[in-house]
Amino acid sequence: MGLLVLGIETSCDETGAAVYDGDKGVLANSLYSQLELHKQFGGVVPEIASRSQLEKINPVTQEALNSASISLNDLDVIAVTYKPGLPGSLLVGLCFAKAIAYAKNKKIIGVNHLEGHIFSSFLDNEVPFPHICLTASGGHTALYYVTGFGQSTLIGQTVDDAAGEAFDKVAKLIGLPHGAGGGPIIEQLAQKAGFVDYFYYPRGTRKTTDFSFSGLKTAILYDLVNKGAYDMGQKKFLAVTDHVLQEQVASSLLVCVADIFEMKLSQALEIYPHAEAITFVGGVARNSYIRTRLSQFARRYNKLLFVPSAQYCTDNGAMIAFVGYFKALKNEYSDLALDIY
Ligand code: KG4
Ligand code: ZN
Repeated sequence: MGLLVLGIETSCDETGAAVYDGDKGVLANSLYSQLELHKQFGGVVPEIASRSQLEKINPVTQEALNSASISLNDLDVIAVTYKPGLPGSLLVGLCFAKAIAYAKNKKIIGVNHLEGHIFSSFLDNEVPFPHICLTASGGHTALYYVTGFGQSTLIGQTVDDAAGEAFDKVAKLIGLPHGAGGGPIIEQLAQKAGFVDYFYYPRGTRKTTDFSFSGLKTAILYDLVNKGAYDMGQKKFLAVTDHVLQEQVASSLLVCVADIFEMKLSQALEIYPHAEAITFVGGVARNSYIRTRLSQFARRYNKLLFVPSAQYCTDNGAMIAFVGYFKALKNEYSDLALDIY
């Protein structure tokens, strides 16, 4: 048995706990998602999120330990997300991790959630360095040049909304009650419309390596208003029975986001032409249409594309445990004074 790391993730609306073994890889990966709790509010409510974290952190961790057939005593390190995220949610995981570390006299390592996503591609693949990482989730969208474990340079990031947020907000805009989980329903609707670009929404500019998605959402809003499908005064989608329009909006949005990703990746490859591979991580990487588009893109550029399996795209404890593992090998420990941010 190699170094045994417990990874705890509570940065937003998922409670994740996982056990990573330095020799065998992921032994257990347990998760509780609060998606249903927030659905009726159309977005994550921080107060509800932190209370749910408190309720679930113990059972989810117990489940991970049980399925790995180990006890707290067997662990070498507790890795925990300490930033960025909702303060109330982060505090639950951090205090829980500190309590275990204190009571069982274990080492603790604070992990940046974004670093968790960046290295999530290693959980089920051997990814070569250097590579370009595209992280796209509900809270973040960024491009990194990754040269080693714990070594990454930011190439560009969103200046406003995240890509996943664009899916979530447009889902809400077209009357779909899916809140923070808008991405999968947008994908389903887009498939019905054949992934065709009906409305050619704006792609942004090559002048910067940063992303911007709030303009895209606004462009879609005005297009719907022009089509008589949205009432700005009541903030209401009027064409709820027009499923064809919903599908066409979803389809155009998906094609547009895939185009934006390709454009930014091509810019990144102009700066770092020697990158050996591209990784696509974060909740949006669950999207099969974008995965297919990016694998075609990678082939055109003669690069390998790595995408984590679905369970490691969205927030999870395994990616936190893995970063904890390589930090432990480098002796990069935290102490019990570890704070959020
Ligand atoms: O990584 P994640 O669980 O949370 C953050 O760290 O933000 O990502 C959640 C995001 C949501 O915005 C959700 O709509 C999006 O990932 N998502 C998808 C798909 N599945 C989840 N977006 C597009 N297509 C999907 N199939
Ligand atoms: Zn995340």
